Amino acid sequence: MPNSPRIGVVGATGAVGTVTLELLAERGYDDVRAFASERSAGSSVPFGGIALVVEEATPEALEAGDVDVFLFSVGTSASLALVPHAVQGGAAVVDKSSAFRLTNGIPLVVPEVNGERALEHDGVVANPNCCTIPLTCVLKPLHEAAGLRRVRIATYQSVSGAGASAMERLRNEEPASHDLRMDWDFDGVEFDEESKLREETRKIMELPELPISATCVRVPVMVGHAEAVWAEFERPLPPEEATEILAASPSVRVEQFPSPGKAAGIDDVLVGRIRSDTTDPNGLSLFIAGDNLRKGAALNAIQIAELLLDRVSV
Ligand SMILES: NC(=O)c1ccc[n+]([C@@H]2O[C@H](COP(=O)([O-])OP(=O)(O)OC[C@H]3O[C@@H](n4cnc5c(N)ncnc54)[C@H](OP(=O)(O)O)[C@@H]3O)[C@@H](O)[C@H]2O)c1
Repeated sequence: MPNSPRIGVVGATGAVGTVTLELLAERGYDDVRAFASERSAGSSVPFGGIALVVEEATPEALEAGDVDVFLFSVGTSASLALVPHAVQGGAAVVDKSSAFRLTNGIPLVVPEVNGERALEHDGVVANPNCCTIPLTCVLKPLHEAAGLRRVRIATYQSVSGAGASAMERLRNEEPASHDLRMDWDFDGVEFDEESKLREETRKIMELPELPISATCVRVPVMVGHAEAVWAEFERPLPPEEATEILAASPSVRVEQFPSPGKAAGIDDVLVGRIRSDTTDPNGLSLFIAGDNLRKGAALNAIQIAELLLDRVSV
């Protein structure tokens, strides 16, 4: 176990990469390198009080064997092309794209939910979707208490979930032209974001048959994803009991009225509006908000890396 782990951030110029560097600096990591495509190679990115020169993530650079853990946030096709080279060089990879999330044998990990799975990796651990992570942090303790039977979700996802260029577009847009967006791949029935939420939740919770239905939309909010959740259990779960369980759960904070604005910039997932679902005696309605760039992406990936490095903090 290295004392000062060597970390490579691939996608360091992006929305998630920027927050990854901020969090690594906050947590005291000092042996950190920044990688991106040839487009931004040679530019610099802030890290703590210094600037890191961005290196091009070539296969040769990734295979060099001088990094312990790579944190990838480059998108699915770039991950498919580059991650194998990093593994070839002997590093462990935490990948934030959807490239490997549903691949058999590759762990898909939310440390508070199934952290033990991270250690079963064969080079790659996948980091789940930015809505799946907060959802499973909330559902897992409730499932342990009352047994989940069915979940329905409506999401309100921020623009930063679509990357740095989408954030730039929102900054330059007239507020009068703001609208809901559905900017994911559509198969004629559902968006891939909706099937990711279903399949990833099933894999992480190890409930392969769990009925889950999701409707995802993007809203003109810069940072922070919100989710309305209707969950049905094997037995009635009174809101007071659910609130007590959630208040004692790791990385979850009970907040009467969660919102993206309250969640942005903090590590915990906010959950509130915890009430009985009047349409179902065993049902509960909840509202969740989380920072998609932190717990939804960068923070969760760093926590996975810390499990791999067998260290909680530096
Ligand atoms: N945003 C979120 O809330 C969120 C949450 C969970 C997961 N994710 C996932 O994280 C990944 C990145 O998302 P993002 O929002 O940070 O996107 P982004 O802002 O568009 O950033 C993309 C980053 O990837 C780099 N990149 C692109 N192609 C590359 C290549 N071929 N080789 C090396 N670097 C390359 C870019 O570098 P250049 O500057 O060189 O172009 C940039 O640093 C995606 O897979 C996304 O699904 C995002």
